[in-house]
Amino acid sequence: MANLKNEIERRRTFAIISHPDAGKTTLTEKFLLYGGAIASAGMVKGKKSMKHAVSDWMEIEKQRGISVTSSVLQFEYDGYCVNILDTPGHQDFSEDTYRTLMAADSAVMVIDASKGVEKQTIKLFKVCMMRDIPVFTFINKMDREARDPYELMAEIENVLGIETYPVNWPIGSGKRFKGVYERDRNRVLSFVYNGIGHAADEQVTDIDDPALEELLGDELYQTLMDDRELLDGAGGEFDLERVRSGKLSPVFFGSALTNFGVQPFLENFLKMTTPPLPRRCTQGEVDPFDEDFSAFVFKIQANMNKAHRDRIAFMRICSGRFEKSQEVFHVQGGRKAKLSQPQQMMAQDREIVEEAYAGDIIGVFDPGVFSIGDTVCAGAKKVQFEGIPTFAPEHFRLVRQKDTMKRKQFIKGTSQIAQEGAIQIFQELGGGMEEVIVGVVGTLQFEVLEYRLKNEYGVDVIMESLPYSYIRWIVNEEIDVKALDLTSDTRRVQDLHGNPLLLFTSEWNISWALEHNKGLELQEFSRT
Ligand code: G4P
Repeated sequence: MANLKNEIERRRTFAIISHPDAGKTTLTEKFLLYGGAIASAGMVKGKKSMKHAVSDWMEIEKQRGISVTSSVLQFEYDGYCVNILDTPGHQDFSEDTYRTLMAADSAVMVIDASKGVEKQTIKLFKVCMMRDIPVFTFINKMDREARDPYELMAEIENVLGIETYPVNWPIGSGKRFKGVYERDRNRVLSFVYNGIGHAADEQVTDIDDPALEELLGDELYQTLMDDRELLDGAGGEFDLERVRSGKLSPVFFGSALTNFGVQPFLENFLKMTTPPLPRRCTQGEVDPFDEDFSAFVFKIQANMNKAHRDRIAFMRICSGRFEKSQEVFHVQGGRKAKLSQPQQMMAQDREIVEEAYAGDIIGVFDPGVFSIGDTVCAGAKKVQFEGIPTFAPEHFRLVRQKDTMKRKQFIKGTSQIAQEGAIQIFQELGGGMEEVIVGVVGTLQFEVLEYRLKNEYGVDVIMESLPYSYIRWIVNEEIDVKALDLTSDTRRVQDLHGNPLLLFTSEWNISWALEHNKGLELQEFSRT
């Protein structure tokens, strides 16, 4: 049996974030290419996943298996066992991104060199900062006319508010993109394009090598010499500790499409980022090297295989080794559970896993017992990882089925999709599920709900917009919610667990409620 310590130490688990079209999919594909997990690029389908609109999402739905396999990928590279987590690019799914980042130890941020920091980059970056995870920047598409690299760095610092350190520096851009200068090793890597599906040929030239001037041409050579001076003079020290605590972002330049700079980035990144780190739990911290297996659920996906109506719970292993058929304790359920059909994703294939280690992501068949944030563990100690907070929904709609005969399917569909965390559902106080109030963070989630109810559960729905934008759970246990003095446009509802809460149309109404109901305590997040 493999050595636990070695296996965990060589794990690297990270998420890739970017504004749609910056090149996240292409870069992921190139990592797999260099890792030997795919023979040539262009094989990972479902490229347009979660891009601009629901139509892309639907398209990917048709190829469900593919979209999901591309959401967690594992491959070997240079002795490392790499786990990549894909994140949806659209801002309406930032809650999904947040959960995915909970399972990652670091993030790679892809930026389009001609566009710089875009709207969605900002949103996703903020989500990374909520967890203080290290962020590595890859400035992509240098084979196109790019913006000035100094300007790009300044933009990252000013707009995102993180210090940057260029690990390498581009030599030219567009048709004249020759390669990168590696600052720590004082050498130039120049690349020769070999077609999309093949690794680029790389030539290494020492900075003092007289051949360099000829290789780069007068102008680029002179610019590089000036840039070197400027960069060294500009100060900024490289400090690995600050990188690892999310305070400093190492920056790399390259072109994922032409494979320029992908390999140096991957190599540096794998060295700089950490192996799995201890995780906080209610009892303190769990050491990844602890012999006892523990994991938490960060994503649930129903109907991945429509024919089987299956539901998969994705877990991030936090400590120890997982073995197939192992019996574990499901902490929130308070009972033992078998993790059946444990699977791992390898490029396009789903494989049954025999064993997995801290840092790895496994998907297990979920008979409907798991919720997002749940802990499973083995061994004598019962640990419980800190839960994953839900974002407060900002958009609400009243949803009901068109055909009253489809009530059962409607209830099942909305409940299951809510358990996945794709939407939040509420109902009238003490009311049934004839109609539900659906709350989401981004309105695209409504369209996905409508589409999924129709396609997976055969239910057509009618949706009606509601004017609420603020949600507050009622903290007071002993309170008569119906008797509260509220403005007429405030609504009393309850969540899936029967917890009472209020929906408000404005912040002013929240203050009003607090002023007129002495002792009333409200909070933005639910108790469960
Ligand atoms: P995303 O996952 O971040 O949304 O981006 P994706 O990789 O799908 O890339 C978006 C577009 O940018 C694709 O072109 C892709 O080929 C292109 N691209 C990615 N990296 C580079 C690069 O380094 N240089 C250049 N020049 N282009 C790059 P597309 O036209 O949308 O798709 P396709 O026609 O290539 O399939």
